[in-house]
Amino acid sequence: MKVGVAGCTGYTGFELLKLLEEHPDVTVTALTARNPSVIKSDPRFFFLYGDDCDAKINTLEDVNFSTCDLVFFATPHGVCMKHAKNLLNQGITVIDLSADFRLRDQDLFERWYGIRHIASDLLDRAIYGLPELNRVDLCGAKLVAMPGCYPTSIITGVLPLIEERCLIKTLIADCKSGVSGAGRSANNSTAYGEVAENFRAYGVNGHRHLPEIKQEISQIIRRYEETELHGNVDIQFIPHLLPMFRGLYSSLYVETKENLSYGEISELYRRRYGTEYFVHVLPTGMLPETRFVQASNHLHLYINKLAESKYVNILVAEDNLLKGAAGQAVQVMNLIFGIAETVGLK
Ligand SMILES: NC(=O)c1ccc[n+]([C@@H]2O[C@H](COP(=O)([O-])OP(=O)(O)OC[C@H]3O[C@@H](n4cnc5c(N)ncnc54)[C@H](OP(=O)(O)O)[C@@H]3O)[C@@H](O)[C@H]2O)c1
Repeated sequence: MKVGVAGCTGYTGFELLKLLEEHPDVTVTALTARNPSVIKSDPRFFFLYGDDCDAKINTLEDVNFSTCDLVFFATPHGVCMKHAKNLLNQGITVIDLSADFRLRDQDLFERWYGIRHIASDLLDRAIYGLPELNRVDLCGAKLVAMPGCYPTSIITGVLPLIEERCLIKTLIADCKSGVSGAGRSANNSTAYGEVAENFRAYGVNGHRHLPEIKQEISQIIRRYEETELHGNVDIQFIPHLLPMFRGLYSSLYVETKENLSYGEISELYRRRYGTEYFVHVLPTGMLPETRFVQASNHLHLYINKLAESKYVNILVAEDNLLKGAAGQAVQVMNLIFGIAETVGLK
């Protein structure tokens, strides 16, 4: 496959590029950055392409994606929506790592992201790129909206509880991410001096990932509507900034409708994820740590339930740049093109 990457200089774009360069079925034919000339002095690209490092890099305005089978957008929201229609009309598949096509409700998107959606007619066509949730729909998909890094951990964390018709009543998501979650562009709040030896919450009055989490959870619940399991879930989501570069950890507290035992819940999770290559339910006493999933597409889950508590506790660790972004995007690409899901990710 011939593949293009828009935004290859960013954190997720560069991770994507490294994976794609190692992928046996992919040739990277077009890359974009806003200022292609900086690539010549960027050692990351020298490592990949040597002296010829600026050969295939252009601005988005000048790039020619016409020979590509697929283009990834690892750009901020508002960029992919300008180009998606044109690419789709040429038969080119689009995988967007940004939020442009995640929210199906145009008004909701415009309210949370503060910009007008200029390709809202495509919102219905986009498939939400969480393979463990939408594997069948992703096979052959033309437009994919990759999940945010927090939603990946939260939805994966509660999916078995919802699918097994054990409707969740309350979900408290206490989540922490390394600073790479905010992207590469310089920003005072993620500068070393502001982050090192420090720990703080942010987005407490509402983070942009909250409507996405709500949308996907209510969508999964709607699949079971006929079994009277509908209703609103009370979701509290507070993200925190960790004084480290990459890694994401979510501590989820879930109040369920029925009071299931630890044994029942852990059996349910093992059954649901037993055949998944990238999602691992760790055994009793083996807690997830960000360093054990770092630089991999694996996600570690741990289930806990104290007999005297009404809450199920789910701990989730992932690498925000891989399972939370670029790795998962390659997993989706493999599904779309009928390649084994793990190729290029082992
Ligand atoms: N970081 C994460 O953990 C994570 C996880 C999941 C999803 N995402 C999403 O993935 C996307 C990329 O995130 P990131 O962390 O890789 O961001 P980043 O490090 O800031 O990189 C952004 C990339 O987009 C380019 N870019 C910026 N503004 C642009 C514009 N107006 N037009 C065209 N290109 C532009 C940048 O080029 P220059 O080199 O010219 O600046 C850079 O290559 C975002 O939408 C983000 O929300 C990120």
